[in-house]
Amino acid sequence: MSADKPIKKAIFPVAGLGTRFLPATKAQPKEMLPVVDKPLIQYAVEEAYAAGVREMIFVTGRHKRPIEDHFDLTYELEIALEQAGKEELLSVVRSVKPDDMECVYVRQAQALGLGHAVLCGRRLVGQDPFAVLLADDLMVGQPPVLAQMVEQYQQWRTSILAVQEIPAEQTRRYGIVAGTAVNDRLLDVTRIVEKPAPQDAPSNLGVAGRYILTAGVFDDILRQPRGVGGEIQLTDGIAGLLRREKVFAYRYAGKRYDCGSKEGFLQANVELALQHPVLGAGFRDYLAQIRL
Ligand code: UTP
Repeated sequence: MSADKPIKKAIFPVAGLGTRFLPATKAQPKEMLPVVDKPLIQYAVEEAYAAGVREMIFVTGRHKRPIEDHFDLTYELEIALEQAGKEELLSVVRSVKPDDMECVYVRQAQALGLGHAVLCGRRLVGQDPFAVLLADDLMVGQPPVLAQMVEQYQQWRTSILAVQEIPAEQTRRYGIVAGTAVNDRLLDVTRIVEKPAPQDAPSNLGVAGRYILTAGVFDDILRQPRGVGGEIQLTDGIAGLLRREKVFAYRYAGKRYDCGSKEGFLQANVELALQHPVLGAGFRDYLAQIRL
């Protein structure tokens, strides 16, 4: 394992049903919904790549073929762009999958929960620590959020969960952690609870969709009975892990858009369009004009 970039593998669970985004997700994966001009899954893969990850493990289900196609060679398109001399577009297409990046796919036959999806990647991950990225959480940070977490992992060599402060009334949407402060950004986790009611929540720190986990978590996921909503929960597996190993929560620097919800998805589109190097200025003028 290289010392400077220790996390080489990432699991992208993309087998969920995406019911909050119906009807858009009836026949296409929510991870392929574009924010401005890029599908959600590409943002997550680019974030992982920037953090040094080179093996992308997609846990897929039915209707997820477009994800495999997106990261495959598009031979006819590339030939057509080459012949038309459209070099810039050609490099956009080719950059989706750099040559030193490997994509592997494993099926989750039934959407039994996020913990179960992560477990489906077990054989491909092996014994090394690995990242988990939920593509419907679009994270914007500089450095990118997973790179910040890898830096923390290098220092502490222990599982790291991305967390953020959330409004008290939203605890039912998150895994919530409690623990003792290590420094301004890090917490030594003593408790993690999936989707508690506000009165039962141990804090206002909610887990966002980025994790670095040690391989020990797989056994803990296996040991857990079904949790909230009858699903096999990753949070419950992590709760098992922290009885044996240290788990840190990391307050990342950056912004998260919950693109699994229609509101978060719209916010991401507006804000990223405003920041877009080509579209931004014109879009800002357009928004100013429709406000009149
Ligand atoms: P969500 O909780 O957002 O579930 O999963 P969902 O089914 O995709 O969406 P809704 O709630 O019905 O609208 C978080 C992530 O975990 C994946 C999803 O694809 C998403 O990226 N997931 C969830 C799986 O891969 N398998 C599962 O069994 C559950």
